Amino acid sequence: MKYVIGIDLGTSAVKIVLVNQTGTVVQEVSRPYPLFQEKAGYSEQNPQDWVDQTVAGLSDLIHGFDGNQNDIEGISFSGQMHGLVLLDQNHEVLRNAILWNDTRTTAECKEIYEAVGEERLLAITKNPALEGFTLPKILWVKKHEPEIFAKAAVFLLPKDYLRLKLTGKLHMEYSDASGTLLLDVGRKAWSREICDLLGLDVGLCPPLVESFAEVGNITAELAEQTGLSGATRVFAGGADNACGAIGAGILEDGKTLCSIGTSGVVLSYEESADKEFQGKVHYFNHSAPDVFYTMGVTLAAGFSLSWFKDVFAKNESFEELLGDVASVRPGSNGLLFTPYLAGERTPHADAAIRGSFIGMDGSHERKDFVRAVLEGITFSLNESIEIFRECGKSIDTVVSIGGGAKNPDWLQIQADIFNAKIVKLSSEQGPAMGAAMLAAYGCGWFESLTECANQFLQEDKVFNPHPENVATYRELFDIYKEIYKQTKGLNNRLVKFRH
Ligand code: XUL
Repeated sequence: MKYVIGIDLGTSAVKIVLVNQTGTVVQEVSRPYPLFQEKAGYSEQNPQDWVDQTVAGLSDLIHGFDGNQNDIEGISFSGQMHGLVLLDQNHEVLRNAILWNDTRTTAECKEIYEAVGEERLLAITKNPALEGFTLPKILWVKKHEPEIFAKAAVFLLPKDYLRLKLTGKLHMEYSDASGTLLLDVGRKAWSREICDLLGLDVGLCPPLVESFAEVGNITAELAEQTGLSGATRVFAGGADNACGAIGAGILEDGKTLCSIGTSGVVLSYEESADKEFQGKVHYFNHSAPDVFYTMGVTLAAGFSLSWFKDVFAKNESFEELLGDVASVRPGSNGLLFTPYLAGERTPHADAAIRGSFIGMDGSHERKDFVRAVLEGITFSLNESIEIFRECGKSIDTVVSIGGGAKNPDWLQIQADIFNAKIVKLSSEQGPAMGAAMLAAYGCGWFESLTECANQFLQEDKVFNPHPENVATYRELFDIYKEIYKQTKGLNNRLVKFRH
């Protein structure tokens, strides 16, 4: 039996899966690393932590594997998108990585619009200037840390840096490059025009490859440290959302994904780069050859729930915390939550907005708050579904993955709020599985990623919407959407009081 490894470099941890040729996950490890949030809106990580924890995780995985490591043919990656890793000419890291959920760059987004123009930016990159994307972060370092920027020779995204450390080879692949705001998404080439208009040397952008491209082998040093064979073939990998889509079989028109990790996304497959969404949703290159996907993002999805648990139920498991949500009626007895703990992206690109509980009552118990948090995250994702539907997409079935797919009550809430059939996969592994599938396809096990998906992925359960809950949530969703408008001004006035 042959095997491949998928590595998902997430925001809270790295997850590594070892998968055999039938798609069975024979081993899985996860190792956490810290997030540094020095000021409100800041979010950074030390790239060395990613490397150390991945190497330790790979070593654990190989030591616990009772097969022959020479049968592990390939390895590939999925990674948190947009994070800026700046390297000098010796490929040494110049500062902590600035992550996708860091929102310090509102002024730089304005600068991009002024220099490039909103329409031209959308025509080239298919996306608006958002704080989370990479280009505004590059401009922030250029402006605020000129001595560091002067030493910058190239930039990478998180999983590309990890791959550099594992192979010694420097690349970026299209699915992640499309989240930088420097890629001409339709033409799959760096935009010299955007670089010139912003005074950046296009040489800062690394060489581009396909997600399934073979980019090298594990270095001898890494083979020694992890127990992997030096002959293990390394494939480029993809953005976590592209890999999540592959790992859920979102590989043809009409397929939709809901993925709830730290962030939450609703993602839809696109054949071409020329559909019109006017920048209302993100439009990126897929990791499957020459196709695309559109996506709406809730910045603090799983993060809202883990925040609630950390603050109010630190010593309980998620299972305990969610144990009695089914006993609360849809609508949480009149309590609504907006998950804007880190600002928001879709449909409100607003770094200053913050979350609220609306309608608190003396009769509310903790379980009402927990259900309100689940419903608020799902309402936020439903705003993306609403955009897709308004743009003419039909969304009747959604594959749900990530933390949001672990709890059956939350899956039912998704079915009722999205008014769509929710599919849960058996042995769902999220983006790590997509990364493993890119390695399996790269190794030539399958003719196409679709063939691989047919072999590797199975439906486990389907959750159908209950008409009476759909009606209740439709009414509540209208009230939910009002909260943004009603709290925007208040939050703008609160900004100066934030740490
Ligand atoms: C997508 C985004 C997040 C990260 C999370 O645009 O910013 O989903 O990829 O890892």
